[in-house]
Amino acid sequence: MSRHVVLVGMMGAGKTTIGSRLARLLDRPFVDSDVQVERRAHRTVRQIFERDGEAAFRVLEAEALAEALFSEEPSVIAAAGGTVLDPLNRRRMQDCGTVVFLDAPPDALVGRVGGDDHRPLLGDDPAPVLQQMYADRRALYEEVADLVVDSSAQTPEEIVERILEEVGR
Ligand code: S3P
Repeated sequence: MSRHVVLVGMMGAGKTTIGSRLARLLDRPFVDSDVQVERRAHRTVRQIFERDGEAAFRVLEAEALAEALFSEEPSVIAAAGGTVLDPLNRRRMQDCGTVVFLDAPPDALVGRVGGDDHRPLLGDDPAPVLQQMYADRRALYEEVADLVVDSSAQTPEEIVERILEEVGR
């Protein structure tokens, strides 16, 4: 099975920024699980949450992630923040890719999550929600990761370099 590079981490950790740069340098496709969910459902992430609820979104998300992970073409995959909640998603990530946890403390995430419409869980006051999510999920990100990179203290270029050291070019 192909070895993808799979980026995990909280909303605002930099999965899209880092993932698209990395994909360019590795000359691989970049696949974002939220974008795949929206393509498959013909609706936005927010619409899915609002009309069908989080549980329905998680089912679509698991399907979209599986499709990306089972693809033969080695890719860089941004796995949305909540994908690690599902043990099957975690196992598939580990089986199919090198998993990189982009870690950043909640304080650093708050400033980065504004202005994006695909994060309905954050509501009007993201700080406490991100604190709680980080507390709930951090161990899951660590469990699944082959590599943990602090994404708050380094530039995107430095982070990409660090990942390339691990996965090769
Ligand atoms: C979520 C993260 C979002 C999106 C949805 C739920 C989460 O993706 O899937 O709003 O539960 O952490 P990003 O991590 O790409 O922002």
